[in-house]
Amino acid sequence: MANTTNLLLFLLLVSALLFSLLIHPSESTVIHRRSTKSNPKVVVAELLNGHNSLRAGLNLPPLQWNTTLTSYAKWWANQRRGDCALIHSNSDYGENIFWGQGDDWTATEAVEAWEAEESYYNYESNTCMPNRDCTHYTQMVWRTTTFLGCAKIKCNDGDTYVVCEYYPHGNVIGQRPY
Ligand SMILES: *[C@@H]1O[C@H](CO)[C@@H](O)[C@H](O)[C@H]1NC(C)=O
Repeated sequence: MANTTNLLLFLLLVSALLFSLLIHPSESTVIHRRSTKSNPKVVVAELLNGHNSLRAGLNLPPLQWNTTLTSYAKWWANQRRGDCALIHSNSDYGENIFWGQGDDWTATEAVEAWEAEESYYNYESNTCMPNRDCTHYTQMVWRTTTFLGCAKIKCNDGDTYVVCEYYPHGNVIGQRPY
């Protein structure tokens, strides 16, 4: 009887260990944390909320989702499907591009990568730190930008590509974002 109990306890421990390994995989393990990451409605909500919560924190008006900009972003993302390159399209819109290795990137993570450039931006001098880009961030918080439209795709090599278009564009030389 005691042996059976010990065996059961042992099995319980082993399965608990296996379970914790499963939910805490090593860094090299590819896991799909969020099965909803490519649901278009979720992607739109994450992109819009990501921008607007940042803007709200600075008392800036929220951006509105815009289908014209979304179509344009989709067109440009498709142009880049073959190389996934951080190349800008040629338009009068503001444009932020994110590239991530592999397909395990959410739209929120793309927005957070741009937002992280805040630490490179100096409001007093209205400049980015030397050799650092902060213009993705300044476009996000550009007061007079009112419309946003984005696209998120998986490139042919499996990497993640996110493009956002902004109208009117920000990053006007000599002006502060807000
Ligand atoms: C969407 O953005 C475009 C600018 O590209 C603008 O002309 C248009 O009025 C916007 N659409 C809506 C519904 O607000």
